[in-house]
Amino acid sequence: MPRACRGEYWTHRLRMLKAMGLNTVCAYLFWNMHEPRPGEFNWSGQADIAAFCEAAQAEGLWVILRPGPYACAEWEMGGFPWWLLKTEDIQLRSRDPRFLEAARRYLREVGRVLAPLQVTRGGPILMVQAENEYGFYGTDAAYMGEIRAALLDAGFDVPLFACNPTQHLKDGYRDDLFPVVNFGTDPRTAFAALREILPRGPLMCGEFYPGWFDTWGAPHHTGNTERYLADLRTMLELHASFSIYMAHGGTTFGFFTGADRPFKPDTSSYDYDAPISEAGWVTPRFEATRALFAQYLQPGETLPDVPAPNPVIAIAPTAVERVAPVLANLPRPQRDEQPRTMEAYDQDYGLILYRTKLPAGPAATLEAAAIHDIGQVFLDGKRIGFTDRRSRQYAVELPARDRETTLDILVEAMGRVNFGVEVHDRKGIHKPVTLTVGDGKPQELTGWEVFSLPLDESMRAGLKFTPANGASAGPAFWRTTVQIDSPGDTFLDLRPWGKGFVWVNGHNLGRYWNIGPQQTMYVPGPWLKPGANEIVILDLLGPEEPVVAGLKQPILDELRPQLDFSRGRRAKAPRIEFGDAAQTGEFAAGAALQEVRFAEAETGRYFCLEALSAHDGGSVAGLAELTLLDESGQPLSTQGWTIAFVDSEEREREDGAAENAIDGQTANAWRTQWGAAQPPYPHRLILDLAQPRKIGGFRYVPIQGAGEVSGRIKAYRVLIGRAPNG
Ligand code: GLA
Repeated sequence: MPRACRGEYWTHRLRMLKAMGLNTVCAYLFWNMHEPRPGEFNWSGQADIAAFCEAAQAEGLWVILRPGPYACAEWEMGGFPWWLLKTEDIQLRSRDPRFLEAARRYLREVGRVLAPLQVTRGGPILMVQAENEYGFYGTDAAYMGEIRAALLDAGFDVPLFACNPTQHLKDGYRDDLFPVVNFGTDPRTAFAALREILPRGPLMCGEFYPGWFDTWGAPHHTGNTERYLADLRTMLELHASFSIYMAHGGTTFGFFTGADRPFKPDTSSYDYDAPISEAGWVTPRFEATRALFAQYLQPGETLPDVPAPNPVIAIAPTAVERVAPVLANLPRPQRDEQPRTMEAYDQDYGLILYRTKLPAGPAATLEAAAIHDIGQVFLDGKRIGFTDRRSRQYAVELPARDRETTLDILVEAMGRVNFGVEVHDRKGIHKPVTLTVGDGKPQELTGWEVFSLPLDESMRAGLKFTPANGASAGPAFWRTTVQIDSPGDTFLDLRPWGKGFVWVNGHNLGRYWNIGPQQTMYVPGPWLKPGANEIVILDLLGPEEPVVAGLKQPILDELRPQLDFSRGRRAKAPRIEFGDAAQTGEFAAGAALQEVRFAEAETGRYFCLEALSAHDGGSVAGLAELTLLDESGQPLSTQGWTIAFVDSEEREREDGAAENAIDGQTANAWRTQWGAAQPPYPHRLILDLAQPRKIGGFRYVPIQGAGEVSGRIKAYRVLIGRAPNG
């Protein structure tokens, strides 16, 4: 290798790709990793992308670069740096000059570091992607032109391209960016759509999904190998190019996991059920892919041997005996009349605590406009309850108080949403915070102390640990050391713990949460050393038993919904009054997007899709995506939307949750139950749009796939409703 490879396992994983039969590696860059503070750039260690490209070249791989500025990838804020949100009304992914100026500065830096490694100058970089699936987000081709110009200014002279899902190829399209299409199945339909804008020239799939990512509390995703292989074969027969997303997904370490919308935080494991597992192991899908590619080699071409897996070790169960409670380790606060978001206090990630005094008084309801993301409410240090953005629960009942009491709201920021307009995801408390007694008038709480807890190195170095002595510590850091003879990869077993973060020898392994499906955390061997190794665990709920162990196998598919503090999260159906005007119709068969425009727009807060029959005559209903349109046919923003009611959803056999209908992605879907129970038609899905909206129609994307796919709706009825008083 030309220079020391900083990502310890890069060469191993690159060799795995090559051995599977691939000739190119597509690499996202994440702006927030490379510019953690405005104008402060980081291209070293794990962020040394030039070394990564050189390592790829040394292994005989080409590189396709995907620098953003927006990436997605279930990565914190889709790769955007949090500090962009310090500008209150900034419009990301638009021609807002404040956004574009920052994006240009970043791309110029990318060019400085990577333009010399283009194929035109002897390097491995073949092509560079502009933005990412912008068609899912907007239609402004001039914005895409600005990103293109920024890449050219940065010195990129290889072909520039744009990727989009099948249904959005024309949104934001411009003919000076080569188009490629992203999909999880059914290449023929996708390429036919691509041919509408690209009559001639090479066909390419920019992202082909063998599996899918996981979110906390939802079943682990696994792909369908047979369908995957059939689709790959189709693309090989068509002489199309494709990128397997993910061929190897690995882990989202540190604070960098994102969240799907409306709000479904992603797990740290990004195993993705990819052909190369999170720890770099061969899987059956790897073998099958390699065997398929072996049939399509050029004369004289052979596949290299498969590299050996890296050593794996177990760590014997070890008691964790020292503890540093969060509330006993607070820094100096800032004072503020009203609470503001984390970004307003110049804080990037971690926890933030808001404190004020409550006078003596009767039982009351505490409520905030919003709390991002999980709030714990304490009175004089005793936990009273939780707020939870997943279910938009921002109220907690407080007991009567016979004296002045300290109110603490400890807020945990999970990853910022990485998709859709929700990337404008500010953390902490969104004011006002009010206290309401009975039916009385809400009183706004003021006079706050705000403690920033960024969980960074300097904060962790200042923690005061004491022996735990079996006492419950509430939200706390726990510390131990484990002895290791000879380091290797291991999977830390977090099942006895609640929810939080783990650092091993100072390396942040990411987030864990006992509700699963991920129960272990991947520790790469090079982060361990012979002798004593320090493990620090921040547990926000408190462990069942403070014991940590290392396993030789991961556990990525164990859901424990009974441990969720927001159990039974689906709120009870609200009372809704539906108007008489119902729109009825039939959807066409097939996978194509269908648009329905109403003769007259109707206003309401609730949108009900009633599915009356299925194309295959079965009992299952479902859909990949529902977009509502305003009077002029423009998509309405989904910000603040929730599922008001769904009569059935498959949440055990697969992730068929109703939120998949409004998460903006077409590769996953809402599906009614087809496992343990199979409730018959009709099926009802009711969206709560948070406020009354004028609705002029909607777009329906059927469950994707070739041929007749179960769950595709035929006859339907649409109703628009209001709350009884709204
Ligand atoms: C989209 C994005 C990717 C990733 C996948 C889902 O297609 O382009 O970055 O988020 O969805 O894993």
